[in-house]
Parts: sequence; C-alpha cells; structure tokens
Amino acid sequence: MTEPYWTPEHLEEVVSARARILGPAVWAAAAPDRGPVISFSGGLPDIPSLPGELLVRATKWVVENDEKEALEYNGTFGPRPLREAIAERSSAIEGIPVSVDQVMVVSGSAHGIGVMCETLLDPGDVVLVESPNFPGSMRTIRSFGAVQIPVAMDELGMRVDLLEEEMKKLADQGKRAKFLYCIPTHQNPAGCTLPMDRRERIVELAREYNTFVLEDDAYGELWFEKTPPPSLFALSGGDHAVKISSFSKILATGLRLGWTMGPVSLTARMAALRYDMGSSSFLGRVVARAMRSGELDDHIRELRRIYLRKLERVEDGIRRYCADYCTYTRPDGGFFLWLMLRPGMNSRDVQMAANARNVIIGQGPQFFADGVSTNHLRLAFSYVAMEDIEEGMHRLGEAMAEVAAKGAGK
Ligand SMILES: Cc1ncc(COP(=O)(O)O)c(C=O)c1O
Repeated sequence: MTEPYWTPEHLEEVVSARARILGPAVWAAAAPDRGPVISFSGGLPDIPSLPGELLVRATKWVVENDEKEALEYNGTFGPRPLREAIAERSSAIEGIPVSVDQVMVVSGSAHGIGVMCETLLDPGDVVLVESPNFPGSMRTIRSFGAVQIPVAMDELGMRVDLLEEEMKKLADQGKRAKFLYCIPTHQNPAGCTLPMDRRERIVELAREYNTFVLEDDAYGELWFEKTPPPSLFALSGGDHAVKISSFSKILATGLRLGWTMGPVSLTARMAALRYDMGSSSFLGRVVARAMRSGELDDHIRELRRIYLRKLERVEDGIRRYCADYCTYTRPDGGFFLWLMLRPGMNSRDVQMAANARNVIIGQGPQFFADGVSTNHLRLAFSYVAMEDIEEGMHRLGEAMAEVAAKGAGK
C-alpha cells in the first residue's frame, strides 16, 4: 500500500490563511463532560428540561400542515414563517417595530457571528471586544486576521469611558473599528448585565464614530426576576446594532438555529454572502410552530424558574463552603457566576485542586481578548444536575481551602 500523500505537513502547504491562523486543533466547543465528574464548566442547558415532547408536537404539526415547503430550499435569509414569527415576537420584546427584512435565520448564533465577520472583516481590520468574553467568538474574529482591541469591564459590565478612549484613539489615526462585539445581558463569562446609562452611551458612541455594534444575546431571555434593560439594537432604533440571538439556550443546542436582527442594508449583504443555501427550512418551521402555539414562551418561563433554583442552590453552597475565599456579584439571569478569588489565591491552582476532586470549573486566558487572565473562576450553574450542586460546592470549597492554606504557608 502506498503511503497517503496528504499528511498534516503537506496539507499545511495548501490550507487557507484563515485555516493557518487557527491551526489544526479543533476548537473545544462546549460539550458535556462525561464520567464521574461534577461539571460547573460548560455553558450548556439543563438536561432534564430539554423539550423533546414540545418538539415532537411542533414537528407533527409541520408535517401535517406544511410538509412541501418544509422539505424544500427556502433561501439564504432562512425560512419565512420563522422570520415572520421572530419579527412579530421581537417587535413586542424590543418595543420597536422589527420587520421581516431585518431578520435572518442562521445555524446558531456562532454562525450568525461568523456571517457578520465575513461580511465586514478584512485582514488588519479593527474590532473592539469587551473583555473578558466568549472565547468562541474571539476565535472567529481572529480567524479573519482582524486586530482585536480589548475593552475592559468592571463589575457592572463594559467600561464605556475606555470604549470612548479607544474609539477616539482610532479616529485620531484616521481609522474606525468595524464593530464592537459585546454581550450586554447576562454576560459570558462575567454574568453581569450592563445598566441602561452605559447602553445608551454605547449607542451614542456607535453613532458618533459610525461603527456597528454586534450584540450577542445568547442568554438575554433567561432573566430570573427582572427583565433586562432595552437591547442596544432597540436603543439604536434597529440601525447601528445587530443583535444575534439563539434557540440554543432556550430550546436546544442540537437544533443549531439562531437569528440576526439588524439594519435592512446589512442583513441583505449578509444574506447575499451566504453559500450554505440557508438554514434548515424544516427545523425553522418546527420552531416557528412552537412560537405561534405559545409553547416556546411557556418553556422559557419554566427555564427561568429552573435556572434561578440552580443559582440559589449554588449561592447556598458558596455561603457554606466558599465564602472565606471569594466574592461575586449575583447575576440577574443566564448561566454564569464569576467568582473573584481573594488576593494570594491563584485561580489556576483552585481549578486544578477542584479537578483532583472531580469537579470541573472554567478559568483562564481564553476568556480575555489580550490573553491575560484575572483571578476569576467561571462557575456555570446551568448544566450541573440539581442534586449534585451541594456536593460539587462542598468539594470546590475544599479545593479553595487547600489552595488558601498552601498560600498562607509560603
Ligand atoms: C455568548 C455566546 N455566544 C454564542 C454562543 C454560541 O451559541 P450557538 O451557536 O449555539 O447559538 C455561545 C455558546 O455558548 C455563547 O455563550
């Protein structure tokens, strides 16, 4: 048998510049941790509440009522019934009229972010990125050869004074950022929700410097007790901000469905650039049916209750086992708690000590646009089984105690 020619080395000679920037490693998109571990690591939905029966009912309806269109190509803007349902529902949520022409259905928000990057970015372009941030999106932006300028956050969210400084600096050099990427609501990893005055300032700055805002709203609908302030998309009148949303966290990650809402002109350019023949017309109709029947909203209400209960149980564990070692600001929704360790304790050491006790928790430079991590741990409370939370927090507390004791002994 002849040796295969296409070894990784030969392949490296022909791959694209984008593939070369990213390298051969397949990105570890959040996947369930298997085995006897208690996982506070992935931003994954609660397993027992996955809506199988809801989807069976909606699928049956689609097959009985709309089979032909559901099984045909539907164009690159995505299936019209879902775009219409999203436009109607979003008009109510956003408090501004959202037209079908502003909505494009995509294969998950990660895909929507990729299409926006493809439409706007050339190598060397500048993107402002709230930092810390979701590593997957920063990786996508990086693959286009864009320069990412971090904008630091405090406990309330992105510091708009620093944003203004960076925008002004760019303008003084005759440049502008193509867009600002941020997660203003129930942020990943920091959990915080940006207050209204900062939102208004971001939109003002986007207008002043003619820059788009890419508002990633993967967790926006999962608020617990109070609705978040208006989106940047709504505050911009649907003009300077593109909001990217997902059915991943409110229905199921496996559907691979999300949507973008933005100016008609940009939405049309994004659709014009797509070469994937549009996202699934079948699944799009199934989700549209779940929206129209009211079942999606019922399900989201149930999820809010479940995630609040999980958060409360985690907070109880922090009070009992971890209070001497860390502080945090309570999130108003979403999946994440951002734990700040007390001075002298290292987050990597705590992560390792927790791993040794079969507890997994997020940490590290991948969350930061400049690759320099702070002393935080990201605790995802969404995926862990309710009945494992107490034990997991107990072990995390032991891990923290061990690291604190070693630090004291130095
Ligand atoms: C902030 C944020 N944006 C986007 C995504 C991608 O989600 P999806 O492509 O499943 O919609 C995730 C997934 O964890 C996320 O946390």
